[in-house]
Amino acid sequence: MPSPPPPPQPSPPELPISEHEDEIMAAVEANPVVVVIGETGSGKSTQLSQILHRRGYTRRGAIAVTQPRRVAAVSVSRRVAQELSVPLGDEVGYAIRFEDRTSEKTCIKYLTDGVLLRESLSDPELKQYSVIILDEAHERSLNTDILLGLMKRLIKDRASDLKVLITSATLDGLKVSKFFSGCPVLNIPGTLFPVEKFYSTEHPTNYIESSLRTAIDIHVKESPGDVLIFMTGKDDIDKMVSKLEERIQNLEEGSCMDALVLPLHGSLPPEQQVRVFAPAPPNCRRFIVATNVAETSLTVDGVVFVIDCGYVKQRQYNPSSGMYSLDVVQISRVQADQRAGRAGRTRPGKCYRLYPISIYQKEFLEATIPEIQRSSLAGSVLYLKSLDLPDINILKFDFLDPPSRESLEDALRQLYLIDAIDENGQITDVGRIMAELPLEPSLSRTLIEANELGCLSQALTVAAVLSAEITFRSTRSKDMEGKRKRQELPDGSGWGDHIQLLQIFESWDRTGYDPRWCSDHELQVRGMKFSKDVRNQLSQIIQKIAKGSTDVQAKKERKSDPDYRKLRRALCVGYGNQLAERMLHHNGYHTVGYRAQLVQVHPFSVLEGDEYGKLPVYVVYHELINTTRPFMRNVSAVDQSWVKPILKKLERLDMNKLSGGSSGSKDPEPLEDKQVSSPKKAMDVKQSDVDSKIQAARERYLARKGKK
Ligand code: CDP
Ligand code: MG
Repeated sequence: MPSPPPPPQPSPPELPISEHEDEIMAAVEANPVVVVIGETGSGKSTQLSQILHRRGYTRRGAIAVTQPRRVAAVSVSRRVAQELSVPLGDEVGYAIRFEDRTSEKTCIKYLTDGVLLRESLSDPELKQYSVIILDEAHERSLNTDILLGLMKRLIKDRASDLKVLITSATLDGLKVSKFFSGCPVLNIPGTLFPVEKFYSTEHPTNYIESSLRTAIDIHVKESPGDVLIFMTGKDDIDKMVSKLEERIQNLEEGSCMDALVLPLHGSLPPEQQVRVFAPAPPNCRRFIVATNVAETSLTVDGVVFVIDCGYVKQRQYNPSSGMYSLDVVQISRVQADQRAGRAGRTRPGKCYRLYPISIYQKEFLEATIPEIQRSSLAGSVLYLKSLDLPDINILKFDFLDPPSRESLEDALRQLYLIDAIDENGQITDVGRIMAELPLEPSLSRTLIEANELGCLSQALTVAAVLSAEITFRSTRSKDMEGKRKRQELPDGSGWGDHIQLLQIFESWDRTGYDPRWCSDHELQVRGMKFSKDVRNQLSQIIQKIAKGSTDVQAKKERKSDPDYRKLRRALCVGYGNQLAERMLHHNGYHTVGYRAQLVQVHPFSVLEGDEYGKLPVYVVYHELINTTRPFMRNVSAVDQSWVKPILKKLERLDMNKLSGGSSGSKDPEPLEDKQVSSPKKAMDVKQSDVDSKIQAARERYLARKGKK
């Protein structure tokens, strides 16, 4: 139980939340669930937890504040620690996946919604908390939506000693209140100043260029005040920052005040994130170039001008094809208004919308589609199944906005193919272990299989590198696009990308984790170090939950398994739902499963063909992504014999049984007849009828090889 901290200092009084302290507290005392709606920057994230702490709510448990974004959990907890003058990690701490900065002392804990979900697996009643604040609920992240459903159950069990607060900048309060059987909704009036909006007459063909022009215009013509520029992603931000710096330098000396250009996005190193919250130097205009993280999660003070390109980068999952796409899409009207609002926090501001008003009115959606309706749900469904709630039928779980039936069925199929649930939809022992690992289902399944096969150490490395989301592609040299510098980096020995990731990490390991080796190979030192750290953590977790697992030396494994057979076999089991078969007479693939898609190996892949240029018959892939066309990303070769059991399972798959929870007959609604297309007969690799096309391809390949 956390011990009370030293007497807290009062928080800055000027924030709207602080002015409504008594009203909020009265509602919280009288109700198990309260919804608090207040403008971005009104103090919900930083002040509510402190108010509850001052009022004694941390005496019998800690306060959890969830954040959908990692960067927000870190930055808000840092701020609160500062306000309370305590070191971060003592009374105030944060926990995000693979990084825990809390201690026994911690009584105000900021954590991502995913981390809270995982905590609830080992402690379903979340007893260590007296208050749970689901912050930023308007973001409608997948995990927050699941937590909403969970809280609804939890407050029944812990009616006497748990308070739940749901906070939001824009959420439809009535809808949430209805969901929680009419809980009170407190609206905290904002102190926004008017923001004048300017529209472009047409859609820009190049939003970076028109953002640049607008930024320079503001800098030259407008009075002091910082400029917040919304871009869609890190690449655009980097481009924008360097171009803007260049143009500012080219301005005539003394024609305007000094300028400072700062990026702001989720993958920024912590030192750089902090810079945005530090006060601006005197007589200097700051340009903050941000993703939509600055829309509602993070408030940067001093912004008077906003430039809004009208786009956001959004990942969407299509359950019928199993494919992801990362699209730059138009924002919603709610988002546009949030962006504009950032300009009016300290005084009247201006917002430059780089799109015509007609687009805003007629083309933008009213609100953003919740993530639960555009994500793969395999991980979430596995989580819900592992809760063992007696009356839980996944297709009927109480969601604020339910996902489509198709998407839930897709999740069930995936989980069945990787043995997390059995044919009756019941969670298996393997599934239980998987749910506890902080990894996506395919990687956790791979680890469990690798443990059985005796190649856990290698699999841990692969899972860690993939989860650390390191970009191997250097940002410096553009000519590196294409294969990852294969002359110098290990090449996966032709087996594919997972093997290459393993080899890269092992090469670094052999240098004693020398940072110079990373820079010599144009690999980010920070990312590599992070993957090493993630690997250690995963190793500890799996040894704790899966008895009998040992993370033995990878070197020994390699000697006894020159073709990485064990590891590739483990991958085949783990990615049983992400398998593709090469098409006859062709190097293209079709995905194996209930709906075959035509896909190609991503050009960045190091997977190689045989001596005749033929790619392997079966491969597993980490991800299907639809960019210019459907590609498999991170691909490795697997053996035909390993695939057979998966094909068998596909034949047996019966959606009615799978979806029924304990038994198929319980589900009263008849499922539409979704005939599982039986997987194509595995083709014979050793086909002797070499037709002329293959012959020609072979000759071309040999000719190319000869030239090298
Ligand atoms: O959550 P909400 O948007 O309502 O506001 P908040 O995040 O609690 O921010 C309240 C104030 O704290 C704002 O004026 C922020 O600028 C400031 N803040 C900060 O300076 N540094 C942070 N890391 C977070 C908030
Ligand atoms: Mg907030």
